[in-house]
Amino acid sequence: MSTLIPKYNVPGPRYTSYPTVPFWDAGTFSEATWVDRLQKGFAVSNQAQGISLYIHLPYCESLCTFCGCNKRITKNHAVEEPYLDALLAEWALYCDLLPERPRLTELHLGGGTPSFFKPTNLKRLLAGLFASAIRPAAGFAYGWEGHPNNTTREHLQTLYDFGFRRVSFGVQDYDPTVQRAIHRWQPFSNVRQVTEWAREVGYTSISHDLVFGLPFQNVESIERTIEQTLSLRPDRIAFYSYAHVPWIKGNGQRGFHDEDLPSGEQKRVLYERGRALLEQGGYGEIGMDHFALPHDPLYEARQAGTLHRNFMGYTTQQTAVLIGLGVSAIGDAWTAFAQNEKEIETYLERVEAGQLPLLRGHGLTDRDVFIRQQILNIMCRFRTEWQPGDWSEEAWGHLETQLAALSADGLILFDESGLLVLPEGQPFVRNICMAFDEHLAQSKPAKKLFSQTV
Ligand SMILES: C[S@@+](CC[C@H](N)C(=O)[O-])C[C@H]1O[C@@H](n2cnc3c(N)ncnc32)[C@H](O)[C@@H]1O
Ligand code: SF4
Repeated sequence: MSTLIPKYNVPGPRYTSYPTVPFWDAGTFSEATWVDRLQKGFAVSNQAQGISLYIHLPYCESLCTFCGCNKRITKNHAVEEPYLDALLAEWALYCDLLPERPRLTELHLGGGTPSFFKPTNLKRLLAGLFASAIRPAAGFAYGWEGHPNNTTREHLQTLYDFGFRRVSFGVQDYDPTVQRAIHRWQPFSNVRQVTEWAREVGYTSISHDLVFGLPFQNVESIERTIEQTLSLRPDRIAFYSYAHVPWIKGNGQRGFHDEDLPSGEQKRVLYERGRALLEQGGYGEIGMDHFALPHDPLYEARQAGTLHRNFMGYTTQQTAVLIGLGVSAIGDAWTAFAQNEKEIETYLERVEAGQLPLLRGHGLTDRDVFIRQQILNIMCRFRTEWQPGDWSEEAWGHLETQLAALSADGLILFDESGLLVLPEGQPFVRNICMAFDEHLAQSKPAKKLFSQTV
């Protein structure tokens, strides 16, 4: 394994979409394309599986210097109401485009920090959304992201009353040196408190986010963090690889030096140790980044082969359409992607002017859709199948060469009809997907756009 890490630790996408965002082609996209494809996707998805809705709530009170999310730091809570008004106005624009009330089988409030917002404001937001949407009687999954330092019991109860049963709390790491370096002071007692409240209120899937590869982390500190996490027995644990993306403007990753970070190989050791402890603790690995206890629906979906992956990461819902509301949010009509404006002020202005606040997007070709499905299969099921006619001679020649190299390293098995990722290959699933990425093959990005794969 250790010899493979330097070889495979290269910049690579996380494949929450295909094509990946840097390869979206403006020439394939317009507002009219987005609306047309959304309407077509909706016509199929709404009755069958329903749709997904993601809402981006960008504000945080304090900056964590490792954070790669789109957020705005402020202590001024007067920003809440105008932002919520814009979200509701954007939702109304979408509802006007759709022929019937959306059935929301998946709903996720992400951030930034949803618990920045007062519970009464979140209640107004959700009441406004559901005034023109349907919550299915069963089979829906609603979740939100809470910061352990400002989540209250009232937040948990308010969202529970709208059907939320999943909550994830950002933990990252309990070690004081690491917390200081990432500018995130967060005592264990806060995490214990919000976890207990969530259970008391009735949440059935509580998740903790941990990150490996942070500055000053070492095997002992990771062991302690995981032991503390196990003592609270969350239903799910996200164990994210730290994405060091300091070139993303304004993400404030300036609180430590590059030499304070574990190397690729040390990072892998942290991951392996973490994984072993989580597995000893009864958690199963779901796919990249995620672990769950066997009773959790994500674990069940992994076992049943019904896991899905979209911009929110792994999910149990198989919806083909995702609407994203809010600054920087991404929508997915299966044959098109669209991202909203990334600056809050521009987002607010455009919604106020009655426009869909789209910044950019991509209309998928049939070929894109085919490759997208292959990559989704690999990410969610660690296997994929195809027909011989799916590849031109040239495309197969290119793919076969790359698969042969992965196979020679013992990461996969493949033949002319499909591929299986071996357990040794699972840590390198992003590299395996890269072999299928025809956009990446055609034009390697000129500047660094992706985090390291390990
Ligand atoms: C929006 S935050 C969670 C909610 C809340 N803002 C908080 O921090 O508790 C989502 C999660 O993304 C993960 N994350 C953020 N930046 C990351 C990075 N650069 N690399 C890996 N994971 C990251 C963290 O684990 C974080 O908890
Ligand atoms: S980790 Fe969470 S609280 Fe910290 S800056 Fe990022 S989104 Fe905000």
